[in-house]
Amino acid sequence: MAILKIARMGHPVLRQRAADVADPKAPAVHGLVRDMYETMVDANGAGLAAPQVHVPLRVVMFQVTAARGATEDEAAEVVPLTVLINPVIEPLGEERADGWEGCLSVPGLRGLVSRFARIRYTGITPAGEAVERIAEGFHVWVVQHECDHLDGILYPQRMSDLGDLIFETEFRHYLQPTEADAEAEADAAE
Ligand code: NI
Repeated sequence: MAILKIARMGHPVLRQRAADVADPKAPAVHGLVRDMYETMVDANGAGLAAPQVHVPLRVVMFQVTAARGATEDEAAEVVPLTVLINPVIEPLGEERADGWEGCLSVPGLRGLVSRFARIRYTGITPAGEAVERIAEGFHVWVVQHECDHLDGILYPQRMSDLGDLIFETEFRHYLQPTEADAEAEADAAE
């Protein structure tokens, strides 16, 4: 197990389409998933994609804990740790919703991003099992954000108004509803 270095905006690995994983059950994939998990926890992220640790493969992971959900969206559901290999997203309807996103590859910033409000996503687990879920709320931002990394897209590229790209510290000062939230939010990033 190892904590991996996180690629930051501007690194070429974050700008390319990641390759499909031929064998989700391969030992090398399991080793990558373990290291990604350790890295995500160490960085206090809600999600992580393999290109963020300099591995251009279609692997993402995410989890929404009760504490994280409460700081992002009062109605956020808890999502257990999910690892998806070769994930595919399908929007359900045209409805969109705005949410503030952060990214471990874009440290210190937050941006207001419009995403599909409801999606179906599929993928393969490292055990080789198929996953199919419908997501709403904070869950949809995390999944769409992480899967964008696999196509070389960072959240600022999804923003319609760069006036809503702001520093994390200013986000906490001016945009979070309560001080309690601000404290809990202190190091949130995806
Ligand atoms: Ni990210």
